[in-house]
Amino acid sequence: MSTSQKKTARGLFTLGIATVIALTPSFTSSAAEASSRPWMNTSLSPEQRAAKLVSAMDLSQKIHMLSGTKLTGPHTPATGYIPPIPELGIPEFVQSDGPAGVRNGKNHATKFPAPLTYASSWDPAIAGLEGRVAGEEARALGTDQLYGPGFNIARNPLGGRGFEYYGEDPYLSGTMATANVKGMQSAGVIATLKHYVTNNQETSRLISNSEVPERALHEIYMKPFEMAVEQAHPGSVMCSYNSINGTHGCSNYYTLTKYLRHAWGFNGYVVTDFPASWSTEDYKNGLNVEMPQTFTSLEPAVRLALKQGRLSEKDIDARVQETLTVMFRFGIFDRTKNIHPINVDRGDTAAQKIAEQGAVLLKNQNAALPLSDKTARHIAVFGDSAKFAVGGGGSSNVKPTKTDTALDEITKRSHGAKVTYSLGTDLQKAAREAKKADTAIVFVTNLTMEAADRPTIKLLPHQNKLIEKVAAANKNTIVVVNTGGPIAMPWLNNVAAVLNMWQPGQAGGKATAALLYGDVNPSGHLTQTFPQEDGQWPANTREQFPGKPLGLKPIYSEGVFVGYRWYVANNQIPLFPFGYGLSYTTFAYGTPRLYKTSGAKNAPIKVTFTVTNTGKRAGATVPQIYIGKPSQQGIPVPPKELAGFRKIYLCPGETKTVTITVEPRQLAYWNTQADRFVVMPGLYRIYLGSNVNNTPSMVTYTVR
Ligand code: BGC
Repeated sequence: MSTSQKKTARGLFTLGIATVIALTPSFTSSAAEASSRPWMNTSLSPEQRAAKLVSAMDLSQKIHMLSGTKLTGPHTPATGYIPPIPELGIPEFVQSDGPAGVRNGKNHATKFPAPLTYASSWDPAIAGLEGRVAGEEARALGTDQLYGPGFNIARNPLGGRGFEYYGEDPYLSGTMATANVKGMQSAGVIATLKHYVTNNQETSRLISNSEVPERALHEIYMKPFEMAVEQAHPGSVMCSYNSINGTHGCSNYYTLTKYLRHAWGFNGYVVTDFPASWSTEDYKNGLNVEMPQTFTSLEPAVRLALKQGRLSEKDIDARVQETLTVMFRFGIFDRTKNIHPINVDRGDTAAQKIAEQGAVLLKNQNAALPLSDKTARHIAVFGDSAKFAVGGGGSSNVKPTKTDTALDEITKRSHGAKVTYSLGTDLQKAAREAKKADTAIVFVTNLTMEAADRPTIKLLPHQNKLIEKVAAANKNTIVVVNTGGPIAMPWLNNVAAVLNMWQPGQAGGKATAALLYGDVNPSGHLTQTFPQEDGQWPANTREQFPGKPLGLKPIYSEGVFVGYRWYVANNQIPLFPFGYGLSYTTFAYGTPRLYKTSGAKNAPIKVTFTVTNTGKRAGATVPQIYIGKPSQQGIPVPPKELAGFRKIYLCPGETKTVTITVEPRQLAYWNTQADRFVVMPGLYRIYLGSNVNNTPSMVTYTVR
């Protein structure tokens, strides 16, 4: 098909949220079709069907499948779109962002809390719920593939897209990504792991080159992708804008083919970030689809590469077959596209639950929270984020189905208390209002976004001043933080409580009120360390982050000492450590016991202990297992690395016995000589605690 024919093939219908249309492919199976189109035989495997189809395609049709478009047009709303090839029965392939709900610039869909919020639940079921409901909505809107989850490691808290990822730990990120992919794909929608890999900054994001040592590349940055590929079998991976050690992310045989496809067994297809293909040879190195089409997949460019021997038709066949296999596997050829209104209430309820489970209670002096109907009779609320639904931008910029505000929801939930509101720009007036009230709640927020790194972790000066003024006037001052990443809290000692709601999405108001009043007990934990001040973090030189010159060459010289691995190794005390989070109840962990105190290299370790709710409210806690690997052969190892965790719900007084299994992979380090993960023999420290800096129990285990 020529480029001009390709244009005319675009287009089916433009559909709104309330439109109910059944798109029945004109190429449904029939006996005649089965003989003329053998790839429509559903008794064949997806691989067999794709192979048959590729063998029936001419070169132009194959080249057509190497790219998509982002043009808006009279077709199903999409972020990325591969037009159909009707003469072969290849249907349209509709793709949308994203990591926090369906974002295609047109449809409304549930605006979920930012991924950093739901990762902070430390509950894979919550990440799975987001995936499942977002997947169902994608199906309802005619989307076949979602560009999410995103889970690049938060290498530096200034990273602009930290809100859109899962934090600083590879094991936690891989676990959450696995659950999210499984949820999404259980709705029949292709999940896309993004952005593969070392896409850890926004400065010069299209052209930067991450210079990363091999061990850190595997242990920190590739590991969560490896986990999600092996455990959840995603249909797609999005290769990153940035280069990795001098080779473009979408042209990188090492990351895309040697590891992703060959070592990990990825059987999906690779799509570019928008746009991230630099050479027609990318299709040799492991790229399947350029999105949107720029120049490397234009028919003349591909034909020239073939002529010059830079690419072979075999390469093209292989790439097209991989893409088509995924389309067959997910039923895109066989199903009738049933576009229908999304279930707004189901989405909103899920969004609220996710926001509640991910919120982190950071301080609660003298049980200032939860608010009580008896004592909170006059509440003074301040700050602009009390009045809008905070959610992320860029690929998370979903058009919500509805929104609430914390101010309205607090007012409703207060059972007739007097609730006043002011923006807080006039500090003297704010102090007067705070003084008159029995409770003051200050909402603060900051800007985190795609395409720009944060200049500082400080809030805007007027927000810090507002908190100081209000706290000086009212000892019962509660700060509600809406942030997409760590912030500094110079006022922490002067306020009674801090509730971090992150970016809670469209139902964040209801979630905030439910948590403030204790209808829901906070149980989220930080997946990213909160530094005390600017600069107290790994990768803290200009050479490291964002890299010189102008962010073009970030040097990952901190190696594996990323996030809490760096704080612990360097005796740096942060404002709040990784894994930290309070509750309205209290918990006690029993002494951990090991089933076996030694074992072979490939043996999992089972750690058993009791957890008791020692307080008066039902709630959840997250016991965390960290390991300290033996330091041998001059290989520097972080003193503690997360190797297991479990979210446990308990009634007051209840005790549960918990067993956490630490898989051998969590004991392994990347051996650059052997080119693989290796478990060293020796003594391993196994810590149990409620955050990385609070691990009172330690047992040892010997690998023989
Ligand atoms: C972002 C991706 C996103 C794509 C499509 C790019 O700029 O980096 O995360 O999926 O745009 O919107």
